[in-house]
Amino acid sequence: MADSLSIKDNRTGKSLDFPIQDGSIQAMDLREFKKSSDDFGLLSYDPSYMNTASCKSKITYIDGDKGILRYRGYPIEELAEKRNYLEVAYLLLNGELPSKSEYEEWSHNITYHTMVHENTKQFLEGFRYDAHPMGMLVSSIAALSTFYHDAKNIFDEHSRKLQIYRLIGKTPTLAAYLYRHSQGLPYIYPNNDLYYTEDFLTMMWKPPANTSYKPDPVLVKALDTLFILHADHEQNASASAMRGVGSTHADPYSCAAAATAALYGPLHGGANEEVLRMLEEIGSKEKIPETIRQVKEKKKLLMGFGHRVYKNYDPRARIVKKIADQVFEITGKNRLLDIALELERIALSDDYFISKHLYPNVDFYSGIIYQAMGFPEDIFTVLFAIPRMSGWLAQWNEMLQDPEQKIARPRQLYVGYPERHVP
Ligand code: ACO
Repeated sequence: MADSLSIKDNRTGKSLDFPIQDGSIQAMDLREFKKSSDDFGLLSYDPSYMNTASCKSKITYIDGDKGILRYRGYPIEELAEKRNYLEVAYLLLNGELPSKSEYEEWSHNITYHTMVHENTKQFLEGFRYDAHPMGMLVSSIAALSTFYHDAKNIFDEHSRKLQIYRLIGKTPTLAAYLYRHSQGLPYIYPNNDLYYTEDFLTMMWKPPANTSYKPDPVLVKALDTLFILHADHEQNASASAMRGVGSTHADPYSCAAAATAALYGPLHGGANEEVLRMLEEIGSKEKIPETIRQVKEKKKLLMGFGHRVYKNYDPRARIVKKIADQVFEITGKNRLLDIALELERIALSDDYFISKHLYPNVDFYSGIIYQAMGFPEDIFTVLFAIPRMSGWLAQWNEMLQDPEQKIARPRQLYVGYPERHVP
């Protein structure tokens, strides 16, 4: 039979044919194989979900071997060149790019939900001056759920839309507030006359006494493009956290806080911060061979290299490299760039990295740009969380409307003691 898989269970001699659909078989079909009638049935064992599709999705397509990334079918390169972040966020959530009137309504709704409740300031005051920005972001996104009780109506489309406007609108405000808290600076309110990234940079950097402050348009555009590149990446660890918590029907603020926590890890969104620390630790081009030696001896990882899905150059990393040139024309070159370029050159000509298909990922160069723009290292992952919010929400929205999805609950293989008795 075409497009099917025949499996024979040699324990019982039983053979079955299973349909192959979209390049997969249904894991539940394996349960048909039982040693005896009271046997649970066969499981597939897949630690870290290396080869398990947990959902069907229409949002983001990645071909890791070819280095392809598309949102709703559109190549990331074209979106980065021709559209702004808010249009791309609309695309991720709605499936199509917005018409002019759809865009106006969308950007109006996001803009008019950028204010946060005044209580947020008191809440932030509770954090110590040296609290990590990601810790503050996780907590303040979770705290939003305490303000919006209507968010529990997750099967009401109107309510879902409202929470989406709020989360996309308020995350930059929270990010800027927590930065200003850490610096002991007064908070700057959002300004409805400004575009999303311009408003964010203004809330971050505007000196309170300078009423004419405007961020450089080149930097606004560069950040906006970086936001497009970071907006979604299908079923990565944080999107899976979003879907996993969402599958319990928790409100979207609690889900987004969980996703933000997953992003915090140095193997995921925390890598951009780690790359900078690594480059600073290397300090000069002469020390690169020593770093490479230690990486090969498995004493450390080359942060910003490697990816679970890409086994080729991350297409986002190419675009980030171009943005770096534009930013450095305004800010002056980041001294770490030369070390990064040389590190990449050496790694990409070394058999160790070639044989393991280790290429720079999106985070290898993004931190160098953020640093040149004036952002402190520990806020880099926050700059990832702001745009990823639209991707997380698109994944959450899709999951809630997918009749095949239930509460996420993996199985385990129990390998502990058999029953024993307390002496
Ligand atoms: N430096 C050195 N060696 C590496 C690296 C690296 N950055 N990444 C993978 N390897 C090696 C592993 O040691 C392993 O070697 P082995 O086969 O001899 O055991 C092999 O390559 C395969 O690596 P895995 O860890 O099995 O790959 P996995 O898909 O599980 O991990 C990950 C992907 C987590 C991204 C990994 O490459 C890594 O830790 N990279 C550094 C952190 C980083 O940059 N993360 C950002 C990812 S992009 C993002 O989240 C936006």
